[in-house]
Amino acid sequence: MNNRDLEPGHQMKEVSTSKVSNENFSLNIHVSKFKKNSELSKNYDIKKYLDPYKFSFSSDISELIPRNTPPYLDNGERYVERIARSLAFFRQCALIGPSGTGKTHIVYLVAELGGLPLWEINCGLQTSVFDLFGRYVGLGKENWIDGLITSWCRHGGILYLDEANMMKQDIATRLNPILDQRGHMVLTEKDNEVISRHNDAFLIISMNPVSSEFAGTKPINAAMRRRMSVWLNFDYMSVGQKIDEKEVDLVEKKAEIGRDDAEKIVRVGAELRTQYKSGEIPYGPSVGDLINWARLIHDGTALRDAAEETIVALTSDDLDVQDMVRKIIRKVAGP
Ligand SMILES: Nc1ncnc2c1ncn2[C@@H]1O[C@H](COP(=O)(O)OP(=O)(O)OP(=O)(O)O)[C@@H](O)[C@H]1O
Ligand SMILES: [Mg+2]
Repeated sequence: MNNRDLEPGHQMKEVSTSKVSNENFSLNIHVSKFKKNSELSKNYDIKKYLDPYKFSFSSDISELIPRNTPPYLDNGERYVERIARSLAFFRQCALIGPSGTGKTHIVYLVAELGGLPLWEINCGLQTSVFDLFGRYVGLGKENWIDGLITSWCRHGGILYLDEANMMKQDIATRLNPILDQRGHMVLTEKDNEVISRHNDAFLIISMNPVSSEFAGTKPINAAMRRRMSVWLNFDYMSVGQKIDEKEVDLVEKKAEIGRDDAEKIVRVGAELRTQYKSGEIPYGPSVGDLINWARLIHDGTALRDAAEETIVALTSDDLDVQDMVRKIIRKVAGP
């Protein structure tokens, strides 16, 4: 069973797999059922760019296709469609935006809508070259196991490199030949096996913006920069004085709290984000963080007390920073 049997936005769900084999042949039998997510596909029009009917992936990796991703809200920027277009035209794109602006979320959404398996790597974590490219687990050629990047290159789907600017140089260097339009990779560890990039192997990288205000960010390596054709900028829904009613709606509905409280929370969030962007505090809250705060309020905790357990502690362990957050809450949301 492959994705061309699916409606866009419909999900294939494997319920059982069994293997029949003897000396001469081996057969994997997959029993699949479908789970509709037509509500989601109705909201986005990416079929002219990424059409699940035209892709074909082995059933082993179909479980990597995300499911039940919530909608991504924007103000007419049509980010989902623009990412899909970039993948269709150039096979890769870069997303730039501060932490919590929904970059990971939107990649899951594009993968689900396009029926594309998702391979995700956080480059800020100390993932080993073995995990990424592969390794021998015993003597002999048959004991080789592909790493994540190798699997993506061979089988296709979306490779998502989060915090791509934190990638170690030796890994970035090995990626470069793959990122050329008709790329390939060379497995030096495995007798220099050359693997050409699967026809439907797409790449998305993401990172925080590099600016003097953002502590700890560094520019992306120049060779990779040159290979990215499209750059999309992301920002918080509400920031500073700009309050997005859709974000207030989201907090109100998801946490089932009153409109007044939802608005206060978003205003505090918007102010904290401004402080984060100007380097005053180490973290700016995402809408998900604001919803967590609101959930405690829904459970009967007062707004300020609920903030202590969530937004205050989340922003930093530093007591001075926590005090700054409390002041902002008092100023914006009242005593
Ligand atoms: N525009 C949006 N519409 C819906 N949900 C959003 C939006 N922006 C952010 N979110 C929600 O905010 C939370 C954080 O988003 P996400 O993890 O995707 O951010 P990110 O940009 O990948 O952050 P980081 O740089 O830290 O990895 C998630 O729960 C996500 O669903
Ligand atoms: Mg992310």
